Amino acid sequence: MKTIGVLTSGGDAPGMNAAVRSIVRTAASMGMTVKGIKRGYNGLIENNIVDLDIRSVSDIIQRGGTVLYTARCLRFTTEEGMQEAIKNCKVNGIEGLVVIGGDGSFRGARDLSLRGIPCIGIPGTIDNDIPSTEYTIGFDTAMNTVVELVDKLRDTACSHERCSVVEVMGHGAGDIALQSGLAVGATAIIVPEIGFDLQNVIDKILETKKNGRNHFIIVVSEGLCDATQLARQLQESTGIETRATILGHIQRGGNPTLRDRVVASKMGYAAVELLSKGVGNRVIGLKDNKIVDYDIFEALNMVKSFDQETYRLANTISI
Ligand code: F6P
Repeated sequence: MKTIGVLTSGGDAPGMNAAVRSIVRTAASMGMTVKGIKRGYNGLIENNIVDLDIRSVSDIIQRGGTVLYTARCLRFTTEEGMQEAIKNCKVNGIEGLVVIGGDGSFRGARDLSLRGIPCIGIPGTIDNDIPSTEYTIGFDTAMNTVVELVDKLRDTACSHERCSVVEVMGHGAGDIALQSGLAVGATAIIVPEIGFDLQNVIDKILETKKNGRNHFIIVVSEGLCDATQLARQLQESTGIETRATILGHIQRGGNPTLRDRVVASKMGYAAVELLSKGVGNRVIGLKDNKIVDYDIFEALNMVKSFDQETYRLANTISI
C-alpha cells in the first residue's frame, strides 16, 4: 500500500489529533503517504481531501477537537454516497483508510471494506461506549474535565448546604457518570445500565443527611431524566435546596490528558501497521491495557458490559 487516508467522524474527542499525528508519522516511517479527509465521510463524498506530511501534524498532539473537522454523514449510509466515496478514494489513490470515531463510524468502515477499500477503525469518543474496547480515545480527558467542574460545584454546594444535580454525557453508556461520580464523591450516581429510581436517590440523600452530610452531589447520565425536573423533585421531597447543572459540550473540549495522547498514538501506530500488511476490516481496541484488533463484524456484534463492581464500590463509600 502506498497511500492511505484518515478521517475523524462522529462527536470529536480529545486525542483524535494525537491519533492523526501518529498515523501520518508511522505511515511516513513505512514509506507511505497520508491523505487527510475533511469533515468525516462527507469529505470522501465531496472530495475534500488534503495531503498530510510529517510537518503538517506538528503542534497538534496537545490540541483537543480534531484538525480534520468531523461530522455525522447520512449520505454515507446510501449506496449512492458510498459509490461517490469509493470513486474519490480511487481519484486520490487512497488504497486503505483509517476511521477514527464511534460505532456508527465503524459501520461505515465495514461497508467500505465490503466494497474493496480496506478500513481500520480506531475508537474515538468521550463516551467509552464501544463494546470491542476497554477504552476509547477522549474518555480520560472528558472524565477529568467532569471532575474539575464538579469539584467547583461542590465548593458552592457545600457553602450553601445545597444539593447539586450534575448531568454528564454518555450517549446511553454510564461510564463517564460512574467513573467521575466515584472520583467526585457523589452521593448517588444514576446510569442507564442500572436505571433511575427517584425514591432510592431521595432515601440516600436523607440517610446521609442524618449522618451529618450538609451537601450532596448527584451525578446523572444524559437521557435518563430531565436534570432540572429531577432537581425540583429532590428539593420538594428532601426539603434541601437543589440546583441542576448540565455540563454539556464542555466535556468534549480541552487538551488531551497523557493517557489519551499515549493511547491515541499507540492505536494510530497499530492501525497503520495493519494497513501496511494489506489487512483491512479490523478495529483497534484495548484489552487488559494492551492494543488488540478485531474483525469489524465481530466487533460490532459484541455487547458492552457494565462495571458493576465499581458501581457497588461507589455506592458503598458514598455514605
Ligand atoms: O458521542 C459523543 C457525544 O458527546 C455524546 O456523549 C452525546 O450524547 C452526543 O455526542 C452529543 O452530540 P452532538 O454533538 O451532536 O450534540
